[in-house]
Amino acid sequence: MEREQKEEVYRRVTDEIRATLEGETDLIASMATIACLLHHSFDHFFWTGFYRVVAPGELLIGPYQGTLGCLHISFDRGVCGAAARRGETIIVPDVHQFPGYIACDPNSKSEIVVPVFNPSTSSGHRDRDELIAVLDVDSAECDAFDEVDKRHLEEIVTLLRDKRQR
Ligand code: SME
Repeated sequence: MEREQKEEVYRRVTDEIRATLEGETDLIASMATIACLLHHSFDHFFWTGFYRVVAPGELLIGPYQGTLGCLHISFDRGVCGAAARRGETIIVPDVHQFPGYIACDPNSKSEIVVPVFNPSTSSGHRDRDELIAVLDVDSAECDAFDEVDKRHLEEIVTLLRDKRQR
């Protein structure tokens, strides 16, 4: 996909997500909205969704679009676990070259995983950001993700800040 075309699709979908989430405070509803709008914006997005941090070192499947995803991922496994552990975005051009890659679907060829942070509050005041989830996007094409995806997806997940789970 041409860089300019990709930028344009991201600009459009980011505006659409921002407008749809206006006034929405629920975290899960917001994750579901992001997964849906993102997934249907790009033909090569094969699996698009969230894994939530539900216990120390433990991810659990959240809202997603695509084929069946595995339910539990520990921080010491897979691309999702590595992104959660490091607290940084990981781009994998060829999933078969990534040690510990978890193959939920054999059609997945490349992947990007973006950490989702929320400003945590304790005793009424803000301290450091807390990792609450990762956003995982898989493609059926090799080498589908680059710095453009990283920049836009990192911006999109900031739209989840300050949302709560009811
Ligand atoms: N491939 C991921 C697992 C999640 S699925 O692709 C939906 C990983 O290695 O963490």
